[in-house]
Amino acid sequence: MIGNWKMNPSTLGKAVELYMAVRKGLPKKNAVTEVSIAVPFPFLSELSRKNARSPIALCAQDVSFESEGAHTGEVSIAMLKSVGVSAVIAGHSERRAQGESNEEVAKNVHQILKYGLIAIACVGEKSRDMQGDYFGVVETQLRTILKDIKQTYLSRLVIAYEPVWAIGTGKNATAEDVQEMKLFIQKVIAQTVGRQAVAKVRILYGGSVTKENAQELLKAGETDGFLVGGASLRPAEFCQIITIASAYGKI
Ligand code: PGA
Repeated sequence: MIGNWKMNPSTLGKAVELYMAVRKGLPKKNAVTEVSIAVPFPFLSELSRKNARSPIALCAQDVSFESEGAHTGEVSIAMLKSVGVSAVIAGHSERRAQGESNEEVAKNVHQILKYGLIAIACVGEKSRDMQGDYFGVVETQLRTILKDIKQTYLSRLVIAYEPVWAIGTGKNATAEDVQEMKLFIQKVIAQTVGRQAVAKVRILYGGSVTKENAQELLKAGETDGFLVGGASLRPAEFCQIITIASAYGKI
């Protein structure tokens, strides 16, 4: 379960408050659901200090595929690792909208995995059409990411299916949409990396997830978890979604 704070909140003080509220609200008996929060770069160091002995994995929202050097404004994977980050999002649609190509997203994913961190690779169509061409869009994104991927990396690869039309719109994909796309993603994984890879790669859903639709999306959608945007800024709701997931995982 990953909370993506995006470019929020506005100050370090507010970030610490939000983080503490999430930490306090986590279900006490949560043996099954891994929790992560993706916070803006300037807050990582401080939250990492606060995060000692916490079950929350600290996540970054982006990374450069370059390792070091003259890349003004960029942040390297070694830097993130050195401040306690253990997972990184790659290819969020809001980054792709800024011009990140499929090839660049794939390079980011491979850089994250090479350094031993968890990569949350986002895929998803901008809109849906009657002919089902959107499957092709997701397939191209996915195949570019999976090209030449090492088998040993697969258990740290997480695919987040995030249809752009569902992000921040209040219009989540239906459980049927989510289940269908999960099966499709698994088919592409089997075709490109092999059948044995399917069980290793976790597949999340993201796009207007709330405490109201979480249960249905987990159950009928058969998703392995969520990438939660807006609702992750409401700690009580985010923790409630985690509680729903951990209860569901125990069934
Ligand atoms: P949302 O965002 O939950 O606010 O729709 C999801 C995301 O962008 O990861």
